Amino acid sequence: MQCSWKSVVLLALASIAIQYTAIRTFSTKPLSLLCSVGLAPTGHAVNCSLRDLSRLGQETLEASDQGCEEIPSPTPSSPSVSLPPFNASKRTHILILATTRSGSSFVGQLFNQHPEVFYLFEPLYHVQLALLPRLAQRNLAERRVMLGAARDLLRSLYHCHLNSLENYIRPRPANHSTDKLFRRGASRSLCTPPVCEAPLGREGQTLVLADEGECVRRCGPLNVSLAADVCRAKRHAAIKTVRIPQISDLRALIEDPRLNLKVVQLVRDPRGILASRIETFRDTYRLWRLWRATGRRPHNLDLGQINTVCEDFLRSVSAGLAKPAWLRGRYILLRYEDLARFPLQKARELYSFLGLDMDHSVEDWIINNTRGSSDLSSRQKFTTVRDSAANAENWRVKLSFDMVVYTQTACQPLLELLGYKTVFHPRELRNLSHSLVEDRTFLPFF
Ligand SMILES: *[C@@H]1O[C@H](CO)[C@@H](O)[C@H](O)[C@H]1NC(C)=O
Ligand SMILES: *[C@@H]1O[C@H](CO)[C@@H](O)[C@H](O)[C@H]1NC(C)=O
Ligand SMILES: *[C@@H]1O[C@H](CO)[C@@H](O)[C@H](O)[C@H]1NC(C)=O
Ligand SMILES: *[C@@H]1O[C@H](CO)[C@@H](O)[C@H](O)[C@H]1NC(C)=O
Repeated sequence: MQCSWKSVVLLALASIAIQYTAIRTFSTKPLSLLCSVGLAPTGHAVNCSLRDLSRLGQETLEASDQGCEEIPSPTPSSPSVSLPPFNASKRTHILILATTRSGSSFVGQLFNQHPEVFYLFEPLYHVQLALLPRLAQRNLAERRVMLGAARDLLRSLYHCHLNSLENYIRPRPANHSTDKLFRRGASRSLCTPPVCEAPLGREGQTLVLADEGECVRRCGPLNVSLAADVCRAKRHAAIKTVRIPQISDLRALIEDPRLNLKVVQLVRDPRGILASRIETFRDTYRLWRLWRATGRRPHNLDLGQINTVCEDFLRSVSAGLAKPAWLRGRYILLRYEDLARFPLQKARELYSFLGLDMDHSVEDWIINNTRGSSDLSSRQKFTTVRDSAANAENWRVKLSFDMVVYTQTACQPLLELLGYKTVFHPRELRNLSHSLVEDRTFLPFF
């Protein structure tokens, strides 16, 4: 029957749209809801610009479940702040657009460490979990709904309406209090006063929260209302996400003049991403490990896993480099390898592009976390990079030559665009004194 697949898609779409409708009914005007789920009449004045969201790979859920990207540096607690009034006009909203294992936690820290930035680590995790809990369901219509929901939530979060997030948290928070916020401990603002008045130590000092787990243990449930107050009191807000595939997915937000959104697109050599994912997402990338171990490519290898990364990067970066008017002053491209080699310089460039003053606490954090440090403990397996320059290219000793050739063939146009050199011989691959990262400057445009 010719229309059967359509019925299936429609049915799936309806069910997820109903979930989303239920989530949104308290605040949404009917038209914007239809728009959000991609059902608004075409030609209507409202800008829906919904597009293919076929990119949300399985790894984005797996990544989250493992919670393994990093353990942040100690977060010194600051004295209680008195909260000044919300000043929307001066606010800059920052989005770190990234993919898993591309160094996004590290970039997130460049903002998390700033005392005037309210930082959220991967809040869209809750959207994905609430709307697409089953990984098997990966059809376009559902992803469109999710992307619409993700955009709506981002807009709310930048405006500090953190209760919008509560709608996606399971179990649903009662009395604006939850202990289920994903990776709460990665956000300094949520682990320091006034959101977290950690118990007093013996000397009457507020305890320094050394890591994410300690934040969660000591701070008790998160008071979402209080967190929203703090969000309003900070001058800027930054959100990191690996759940938005391409820059064009953000166009409606970027064009919203009230939002003043600036996007830091983080890219990394796909060969490096692959090597890192193979280590981290052991189930999803099982066949790649098999390839590495046996030297033979499994016939049922999921090529989509790396193709998706390269396609998304290629489309986003091409869009950015074409300098369209809607990205003017709002887009900066950052190669992870450059950040790893010149962390302070690159951080300063980011801050300068954003028009923000770089606080000394950010510099201190960079210096503490990028020198080759001898105090590596085992729990830092997933930390932001120490001795970062060496780490950025260590995929060259972790992937087999075949895997490298395979990946660079699939991603050839992207490698050229970003200035990553292809290798033609194993000797060239393993010779680390010969860098595969061309010197390139990607300047923002205004
Ligand atoms: C929420 O607050 C109300 C009134 O303060 C209280 O009666 C109720 O037990 C609280 N619910 C939960 C789940 O804490
Ligand atoms: C949460 O913070 C608000 C202030 O924003 C306060 O009024 C409320 O009592 C707090 N709730 C709890 C459970 O502490
Ligand atoms: C940097 O490291 C020193 C020594 O370990 C520590 O006292 C300081 O608080 C750290 N600063 C930051 C911003 O992490
Ligand atoms: C490694 O690369 C460097 C720089 O390109 C070159 O001078 C050197 O001969 C190479 N070593 C080997 C063993 O190929």
